[in-house]
Amino acid sequence: MPKPYQITANTAKVLSLALHELVLMDLRGAECLRELAKLIRKHAEEQSLQDLSEDSLNEAPILNHAEAPERMNAYVVFVLGGPGSGKGTICPRLVEDLGFMHLSVGELLRKEVASGSDVGKEVESIMKSGQLVPDDLAIRIARDAIGALGSAEGLPVKVLLDGFPRTVEQAMAFEDTVCPAAKVLWFTCDEQVLVNRILERGKTSGREDDTAESVMVRLKTFNECTDRIRQYYESQPVSKITLIDASRSVDEVYEQVRSVIA
Ligand code: AP5
Repeated sequence: MPKPYQITANTAKVLSLALHELVLMDLRGAECLRELAKLIRKHAEEQSLQDLSEDSLNEAPILNHAEAPERMNAYVVFVLGGPGSGKGTICPRLVEDLGFMHLSVGELLRKEVASGSDVGKEVESIMKSGQLVPDDLAIRIARDAIGALGSAEGLPVKVLLDGFPRTVEQAMAFEDTVCPAAKVLWFTCDEQVLVNRILERGKTSGREDDTAESVMVRLKTFNECTDRIRQYYESQPVSKITLIDASRSVDEVYEQVRSVIA
């Protein structure tokens, strides 16, 4: 039996067939939703999917909202880009100017390491080497940090989530259990520029991963994840992703970002 919000391959196929048919119909609003329900039922019958028959829909675990995690009232912008692309430089300025909160998953992890906690001990060597920490930990850290912010007078809390997600699994888990991303900013920059920036910063930052060896691993790790995440966001019906030319001056990068999220 599927768990809450777990989509089986057959269910995904039915939804995909129904949605493909629906987009050709050019419908709007309630009429569009009614037609979608009909199409799902039709394709479920064609695929002999008993679990999507009318009687079982009310009981199916996939629709059991009582068991589903409560979503958060948050407006979250994912800020992604290679090491040294300027995520941590630009976000704090947007906090001052546009009232966002800035959460850097890397920074939160560094605090865990500095505190000597069990989590910190677990991730210290991973971070030093430039690898990614496990998905479930990154997801928990992001979710807990947003949950701790709270929101004023029922308004969504506005968050710049820096360095998250780094895998499609992180993206999907976050959007399932916290909230959908409002936008995805993707900082792009020539690799040699990134390496130069990190090595320059490494002279004073005290970060154990600002070394020549670690930055090459961080870049490789980033490049391996890049295509999958970009494809994931670019393939969505309404693309949320905006590329930011992060090789330009800090002021110019800031203006590009501001024009997207202001
Ligand atoms: P994290 O802390 O996120 O590191 P990173 O992604 O490698 O990014 P950096 O903080 O190094 O760079 P940045 O883009 O913020 O650049 P900055 O503004 O500082 O992650 C660290 C580690 O934590 C990861 O390796 C991983 O182990 C773990 N981790 C984090 N998130 C995770 C997740 N979701 N899943 C799993 N693991 C995770 O700028 C760098 C320098 O360049 C500065 O000196 C700055 O002054 C300069 N600079 C910036 N912009 C410009 C510009 N436009 N022109 C000139 N100089 C500039």
